[in-house]
Amino acid sequence: MSSHGDPIPMTARRGTALKGIADVPGDKSISHRSLILGALSVGETRVTGLLEGQDVLDTASAMRAFGAEVTRSDDGEWSIHGVGVGGFAEPEDVIDCGNSGTGVRLIMGAMATSPITATFTGDASLRSRPMARVTDPLALFGTQAFGRAKGQLPMTLIGAADPLPVTYTTPVPSAQVKSAVLLAGLNAPGQTVVIEAEATRDHSERMLAGFGAEITTEITPEGRVITLTGQPDLRPQTIVVPRDPSSAAFPVCAALISEGSDILVPNIGLNPTRAGLFETLRDMGADLTYENPREEGGEPVADLRARFSPEMKGIEVPPERAASMIDEYPILSVVAANAEGATVMRGVKELRVKESDRIAAMADGLRACGVEVDDGPDWWIVHGRGPGGVTGGATVATHLDHRIAMSFLCAGFASQQGITVDDAGPIATSFPIFEPLMRDLGAQLDRANR
Ligand code: S3P
Repeated sequence: MSSHGDPIPMTARRGTALKGIADVPGDKSISHRSLILGALSVGETRVTGLLEGQDVLDTASAMRAFGAEVTRSDDGEWSIHGVGVGGFAEPEDVIDCGNSGTGVRLIMGAMATSPITATFTGDASLRSRPMARVTDPLALFGTQAFGRAKGQLPMTLIGAADPLPVTYTTPVPSAQVKSAVLLAGLNAPGQTVVIEAEATRDHSERMLAGFGAEITTEITPEGRVITLTGQPDLRPQTIVVPRDPSSAAFPVCAALISEGSDILVPNIGLNPTRAGLFETLRDMGADLTYENPREEGGEPVADLRARFSPEMKGIEVPPERAASMIDEYPILSVVAANAEGATVMRGVKELRVKESDRIAAMADGLRACGVEVDDGPDWWIVHGRGPGGVTGGATVATHLDHRIAMSFLCAGFASQQGITVDDAGPIATSFPIFEPLMRDLGAQLDRANR
């Protein structure tokens, strides 16, 4: 089932080469944070290039429910009149974060140190995901959480009236957990410290500094130590959201595996905490170049040029790179299936608690398409069939997971018999223009069943 409405089966088939320019939407992580930090500032934050996917729209609705004024002008610019740190009002109704783990976990952090109560829910995928990873550290501030037995949504949080600052070492590599603690720390007096053994995406740190918070990051033998001084006056910002490398990954990988393809994907954010996939593809022998590299809004940005790469070889992906490409393993496994030899992916337990169990979803679907896959609790190996070697001819289950849906559609473009996904509806959560964008490049994509 799609998160909103009837399932949308979709079939991708091998067609002509992919050619042209792929203008992918704004970065999902930065879009959520723009709305939340805008809501925690006093005055007007203006945002252009915001991702208008359902996940982000749900966060915009949530910010309205907490008292911020959030509007969109006809030219696509968003305006957020914030209520200031500690200024959230109590929502009158349940906050529905739809499919978005980032949305719900960051918003829980943002309200956790205000004396208000809020109840959160989401779709079937989000209601099955672990929330204790966020509510455990929030309890250290004095926040109470009442959810279902396994710490799942629906869940009510009672914000701490007299929050204490916290020092917290994240037990899993998660930017959502880190960000929830930092956002909660905004309204606690004194210094809140987060220690992460593995570096995860650092958009919260960069953006908190941009909004005027006092925040430092130190690299120590224990990992990255991030220190935030509580109760700042956040200053509203004008934000231009860079385009999402996690969305760029789909047309880029589709071009690498589709004969004769040559595409340009402009203005892609290449923050080192996000760019692990592109490094990995280059290590595999992909013809992928960064053109016109530059800095925009404090983030490294380039235009990506991807050409059909029949010489790609399987590799052992360095596990220390996992956090910087955690959302890209599904599409990497599709490239791996079209490369020669085995691609080994280790240290990726977190993939089991995303919008779906992504190792299981990809392994099942790839096997149904004729690809050999081995998997264990925190690892998997895809045995490549070489360029154009994936048989396809299957209908695969996407489990309410946008990235599983897009990965199998990209696999379909290079497959012998085409691939159908049972529901392309969730793609709207992160990449609402995926279908027209891929068609414009020349991809064969049909809504009808095979
Ligand atoms: C995100 C963090 C990652 C990622 C998600 C976006 C963020 O999740 O998978 O798509 O914006 O902070 P984890 O923090 O659970 O690794």
